Amino acid sequence: MSKTRILTGITTSGTPHLGNYVGAIRPALASAQAADAENFYFLADYHALVKCGDPARVQRSTLEIAATWLACGLDVEKNWFYRQSDIPEIPELTWLLTCVAGKGLLNRAHAYKAAVDKNRAEGEDDDAGINAGLFMYPVLMAADILIFNANKVPVGRDQVQHLEMARDFAQRFNHLYGEPGSEPHFVLPDVVIDDNVATLPGLDGRKMSKSYDNTIPLFAPRNELKKLIAGILTDSRAPGERKDTEGSAVFQLYQAFASKEETRAFAQAFADGIGWGDAKTQLFERIDAEVAPLREKYEALMAKPAQIEALLRDGAARLRATHATPALARLREAVGLRDLSKVVVAGSKPAKKEGGALPTFKQYREADGKFYFKLMQGERVLLQSTGFDSPRDAGVRLASIKQGALDDDGGDFTLGDGVSSDEVNAALAAFVEAALEGGKAQ
Ligand code: TRP
Repeated sequence: MSKTRILTGITTSGTPHLGNYVGAIRPALASAQAADAENFYFLADYHALVKCGDPARVQRSTLEIAATWLACGLDVEKNWFYRQSDIPEIPELTWLLTCVAGKGLLNRAHAYKAAVDKNRAEGEDDDAGINAGLFMYPVLMAADILIFNANKVPVGRDQVQHLEMARDFAQRFNHLYGEPGSEPHFVLPDVVIDDNVATLPGLDGRKMSKSYDNTIPLFAPRNELKKLIAGILTDSRAPGERKDTEGSAVFQLYQAFASKEETRAFAQAFADGIGWGDAKTQLFERIDAEVAPLREKYEALMAKPAQIEALLRDGAARLRATHATPALARLREAVGLRDLSKVVVAGSKPAKKEGGALPTFKQYREADGKFYFKLMQGERVLLQSTGFDSPRDAGVRLASIKQGALDDDGGDFTLGDGVSSDEVNAALAAFVEAALEGGKAQ
């Protein structure tokens, strides 16, 4: 059984705040504990460019968000951790997906539509001031997800439409470029919305969000955290008066950090008329108890940016080698961006061996549970694969061999007794030619 792939990206355009921590970082790291999951955490810095034209801000945010993940306990030995812009295959895939993406679908993306609506309301041209990056945002996001065939993508509700689009592009691509009988190119990703995860209110009671300028930075120094919490909007009830928990930002923030018992006690204090000053002090101490040890790690990490840079580069390099580069090689092949030297030239007759029997491929599973294939010419085994863990891996390797020639990156096949690689290549050429002629080579 292959592991479920879970992928999480954070745009690097801001400083992590308590809302990011409670809504995304903490739950993502909690689910990383599941043994049957392979986790992908990345810094969406290309996405940052869509809305942030300040280079220093993007750099700073990338460092802060990377340090935050690490401080909060992301284990880079067990999980993939990387920066989007270190994987050039992502923008490359973005283009392949762009060419199957319906423009009409992109027209209906919420973020783009909201920008157009705003222009209309202001009597401007529909697309005034809108960059094409905003328009293409969902395609880049789809590439982030599809390149690793992620099964699950935990996001906030505002991202659900993006996941639907990713599925749409994947389906179109699979349909257009898939081969009957072989695995589809892309897995259709599922959106995961965790209803237990709280949406935190910000200082003014609205959802905590950079766009409302009401955030509490996750790693604000203790003094500043205290000051910010003291500034949370409350009603004007005096100490001794009963307070409502419902609709109280102070209460909701407390709840996001406290145990059930602590929360119950806090609710009781509200009923008993705790003063806002005291309530805020309790809130501050509760948040600080969880955050202080992480803050210490964060500050140590922020003091060593070169270490974080090296870590990110290493993650991306390994991920490219094992996943991204081979994936793009297959996809390029699928769309026709191909090696011309493997075109079979009309009229050049590849030698057909004894009796002209066409070579055949056989795929099978052995008692060891692994998947194999071999190339036969009559009764002779020309080439024998080693065992693959999944039929898909075997199929992918077989497909690359079927393209016509043995490249020497083998290691996953052996030649039959007394068989030379020239002989195999000739058989493959015969196979390809027969296929091109509409023959029934398998
Ligand atoms: N758009 C996401 C956000 O703003 C960030 C993101 C970019 C992302 N690519 C992704 C999230 C891929 C999940 C998967 O929150």
